[in-house]
Amino acid sequence: MKERLEQLKAEALRQIEASDALEKLNEVRVSFLGKKGELTGVLKGMKDVAPEERPKVGQLVNDTREQIEKVLEEAIRKMEKAAREAQMRAEVIDVTLPAKKSTVGHRHPNTIAMEEVERIFVGMGYEVVEGPEIETDYYNFEALNIPADHPAKDEQDTFYIGGDFLLRTQTSGTQVHEMEKGKVPIRMLAPGRVFRSDEVDATHSPSFHQIEGLVIDKHITFADLKGTLAEFAKELFGEETKVKFRPHHFNFTEPSAEMDVSCFKCGGSGCRFCKGSGWIEILGCGMVHPNVLRMSKIDPEEYTGFAFGIGLERIALLKYEIDDMRLLYENDVRFLKQF
Ligand code: DAH
Repeated sequence: MKERLEQLKAEALRQIEASDALEKLNEVRVSFLGKKGELTGVLKGMKDVAPEERPKVGQLVNDTREQIEKVLEEAIRKMEKAAREAQMRAEVIDVTLPAKKSTVGHRHPNTIAMEEVERIFVGMGYEVVEGPEIETDYYNFEALNIPADHPAKDEQDTFYIGGDFLLRTQTSGTQVHEMEKGKVPIRMLAPGRVFRSDEVDATHSPSFHQIEGLVIDKHITFADLKGTLAEFAKELFGEETKVKFRPHHFNFTEPSAEMDVSCFKCGGSGCRFCKGSGWIEILGCGMVHPNVLRMSKIDPEEYTGFAFGIGLERIALLKYEIDDMRLLYENDVRFLKQF
């Protein structure tokens, strides 16, 4: 019995020694120590051993089991350690390698200008709202006092998209949506994209942006309009900026005007930037026409208001001294990086 155990042990150690993978060591464990393994087989032979010998033999079997287990554990630990080390060597990271430069994005000059204009008007208590880009003829023209046969409709070459629908040619329709909500007073700023079937050139694009403003309250006068827009111009272009209102015509305002700012480049003396005039036109404005108020269920005897429309691209081009509108749409990273 003792010899048989010695033999088993020697054979187990030899097999452990010869194992070159964890699976092999596992096989050795099963074949010697497992339920159906060699040692268990020896224990089953105990019934043939004389009763007084049994404790001694039992002890011997246990010793053998323990010795094999110990060697086996050791071998497993070694193999696992070697595997871990090999993995670490394979996955080594060179922390001295210079990191890849991460490229940081830039806000588009249009976005910067838009946020700047919003900031100024929000500071004056205006609420920023958004109107739909697809409008009906009613919102884009009729409710703005531009009747069906009016030539103003031809001036803004409209993209019609079937039925009564069109792509808005101006953000002014948002005035109507806002008034229809039936809540006065109104202090609204509505930035957004507009569309006209224009050819692309340095100052035109079939899609551009406007920022619409509308104020409705009791006792609003042209003086409020002038004060508000003069303050806006100073905030946007600097404290020195002067403004000038020229009479103009828009169907939805009466009286109407265009506002010029003194050239922030030459201060008004005349330069290439302002084409020698000292002034730069930046927006259209006027007192909301009583017809417009009436159509949106606001009583013109009780309420008055003013409105204005700013061309966003124009502001961005002026502010950043960009001389071609196409640059704003090409999204060349080398261009955008500068802002
Ligand atoms: N909607 C006009 C346009 O596209 C701009 C405009 C002018 C808007 C005067 C206004 C305004 O609100 O009062 O040319």
